[in-house]
Amino acid sequence: MSSKVVEIQSELNGIIEKLLSNGINKSQVQDKYILPPNERPQMSEVCCYSENIPVVDLKDLDGPKRSRVVEEIRRACEEDGFFQIVNHGVPEAVMKSMMGIAKEFFEMPVEDRACLYSEDPNQRVRLSTSFNIGKEKVLNWRDYLLHPCHPLEEVIGSWPEKPAAYREIAGKYAIEVRALVLRLLASISEALGLSSDYLNRILGKHSQGMTVNYYPPCPNPDLTLGLTGHSDASAVTVLMQGDVNGLQVLKNGKWVSVEPIANAFVINLGDHLQVVSNGKFRSVEHRAVTNASTARISISTFYNPSQEVFIAPAASLVDEQHPALYRGYQLEEFMRVFWAQELKGKNALHNFKIEYS
Ligand code: OGA
Ligand code: NI
Repeated sequence: MSSKVVEIQSELNGIIEKLLSNGINKSQVQDKYILPPNERPQMSEVCCYSENIPVVDLKDLDGPKRSRVVEEIRRACEEDGFFQIVNHGVPEAVMKSMMGIAKEFFEMPVEDRACLYSEDPNQRVRLSTSFNIGKEKVLNWRDYLLHPCHPLEEVIGSWPEKPAAYREIAGKYAIEVRALVLRLLASISEALGLSSDYLNRILGKHSQGMTVNYYPPCPNPDLTLGLTGHSDASAVTVLMQGDVNGLQVLKNGKWVSVEPIANAFVINLGDHLQVVSNGKFRSVEHRAVTNASTARISISTFYNPSQEVFIAPAASLVDEQHPALYRGYQLEEFMRVFWAQELKGKNALHNFKIEYS
């Protein structure tokens, strides 16, 4: 073998070793994934009442009872920052196929996936592990695939080539989820007392990204997290969490498990909507825990402003009683701050807070 071939092979082996989805069954948790005792998930203290997170039925969203549904969304956004939706209009078959192809992606031979590996947050399409391994002291028990979704025809050519059906299936899913997000943006605008098209307008050309999260079974879920507690650097996030439990939301200082509901989506507001709503609506911290028996796949769609627009509190939500809580920024600046650190609570958003003395 030439030295070039040897070099490439050893680089590939290094990547395969970093990935959790490398086909090797783990019998114990390596030190690099073990959290200090006070940061461990402490599962016995987690609440399991799914009714703690509201479920909003969108059946009547586009009919005469719209205002009732908008009111439910307003309450959910104000109090929880999180809700599940049913009768949302995304066909069950599209959701199932997306989940299936995501599973195929993480179960195909690791060599077919390792070529996409990167730790560079500037890489728009990449497979990676944990969150930001250049910045983390302890790693998350997660691999993920990340890519942009909009405008679809401009980005789809950069998506994974394997499995062969990935682009077609994920493309259909991305289009359906975008249509859903546009309906949600209108209703969230109304819930804020703004005109229906307000959020649609201020997001400029819009951007949409997808993260496919893969949490393999973990030999000791008490020692690790799949994803550290964080709020999302998005306007709105649409999560398909499948049927394996693992998502938890921080509510009144306690972690609450979001129990899977068949064919539902979990919706949460991200940091940009906390800014635009001037703190009226909240981007709430959440995390993912692992389990010992079943691999868990979740698919997040992060819906965002496009790079060039300026995000700031809506003028009509700022007055003497409600001074602007955040300074404005362009997405590029926010994302630079977000990826410059490890994932931790609402650290990124804190950088944009205005301090009044
Ligand atoms: C995320 C996220 C939760 C989950 O991708 O930002 O919070 O259940 N995922 O995987
Ligand atoms: Ni998240």
